[in-house]
Amino acid sequence: MIRVAKLEDVSDILELGQKLLSNFDKTYDIANYIKNDNYIAIISEEKKINAFLLISENASSYELEAIYVIDKYRHQGIASNLIKYFLTNYYDKQKDIFLEVRSDNTEAIKLYQKFGFEIINTRPKYYQNKDAYVMKRVEYMKDVNILSIETSCDETSIAIVKNGVEVVALTILTQMDTHANFGGVVPEIASRMHTENITMVLEETLNKAHMKVSDVDAIAVTYAPGLLGSLLVGIEFAKVLSYVYDKPLIKVNHLVGHIYANKIGDHLKFPCLALIISGGHTELVKMTGDYEFEMLGETQDDAIGEAFDKVARVIGLPYPGGPNIEKLAREGEDTYKLPNVLNDGSYNFSYSGLKSSVINLVNKERQKGNEINKADLACSFQTTAVKELTQKLDLALKETGIKNVIIAGGVSANKYLRGKVKEVCDKFDAELTLPEFIYCTDNAAMIGAAAYPLYLKEDFADLDLNAKSTSNIC
Ligand code: KG4
Ligand code: ZN
Repeated sequence: MIRVAKLEDVSDILELGQKLLSNFDKTYDIANYIKNDNYIAIISEEKKINAFLLISENASSYELEAIYVIDKYRHQGIASNLIKYFLTNYYDKQKDIFLEVRSDNTEAIKLYQKFGFEIINTRPKYYQNKDAYVMKRVEYMKDVNILSIETSCDETSIAIVKNGVEVVALTILTQMDTHANFGGVVPEIASRMHTENITMVLEETLNKAHMKVSDVDAIAVTYAPGLLGSLLVGIEFAKVLSYVYDKPLIKVNHLVGHIYANKIGDHLKFPCLALIISGGHTELVKMTGDYEFEMLGETQDDAIGEAFDKVARVIGLPYPGGPNIEKLAREGEDTYKLPNVLNDGSYNFSYSGLKSSVINLVNKERQKGNEINKADLACSFQTTAVKELTQKLDLALKETGIKNVIIAGGVSANKYLRGKVKEVCDKFDAELTLPEFIYCTDNAAMIGAAAYPLYLKEDFADLDLNAKSTSNIC
């Protein structure tokens, strides 16, 4: 967690500061800094304070006085996050920011350059016998364009995403019509089609963006979870681009991608509760910051999307089942009695019981020679399936007091579900963030959005990156 320092933090900051500079306590009157509005001390803490950033402000500029992260917490992007926190929450863009840094501290210089600082002057022998560079921030962070690739299932998609929030170009080529002939995704066909189409999808995306691969700052790719063969096509393609164009490679978890679909347009607020609802996953996750996940509950058997697809198949609707159930349900009523699902006080979900009871009901009625009202059954199923989600969300909102909710994953395209989730959020005065429809189902823009915090942390993947078929978010 990052926050502004309070008076009771003074002794902790001094203790850390002494490690940075032997006369830190004499140089900086921290208590005064905190009391005086012209100074801002921002700290990071888990259980104990592990880092701080000290900034002074005068009429026309800021001076970044000191930044320190204790050894154990280095290389986790904490320094970056502290600077980002300042820039996002306090920085007045009319003012310059200056700092001094030892000329041999290349790690720090690189960090400052990442945030738009440039060396404008050298002070010879400023630090005993070492020179100091004076750096000035000349621009608000250089734009970062990430070329992102998603091939985990049956969509070949490539995007270019700017600064993790703005989609410069996006191409999604779906194989849905081909797989519909088989009633579901055929993995072998999916990977072959990715191979055939991926170069064309890249070309189209670059054309839309009026960019070349050499213009982007990094290559991101989904590495898990998904169909192995499909994932591998994207991964190998990404590796070749990364190698040939000498761009860092970033690996992104598909589910994290679904969450970060909400970041497009910059709508993700922390702390939040995230409901991840897709063909393979049903998870309730608490997020306290970028890439800070805590799993509250997950499905004990089937995923919600899987249940939608299976029920659709049983009542004779074409693939993909989810959208077709939703459409049919609009014409029906909730008349069939279906079992209310897992009600054990936990945040976990279960969908296999509901799925089986629909299958049994259909079989029994067929045996008796009775017609099934498909629209009513679709409506009854959807109502029960969504109630399972909203009950758990209700409980989590009550128990955590969190006021932001996001939904992510293919099933979040369901309008009935969106309405019901909104009702629960309203009850607790919580704000609901929904991805735009186009970013709900699989797409590469969400992968680019999720790659951006990793880019800032320089959390890059090696060229031996492999695919993983299963993976949770945390
Ligand atoms: O996230 P996604 O595109 O792929 C996975 O990562 O699984 O989600 C696909 C799932 C499928 O089960 C599909 O039937 C479901 O999302 N889905 C829907 C709707 N649109 C897609 N389920 C219910 N209502 C919808 N409108
Ligand atoms: Zn997905």
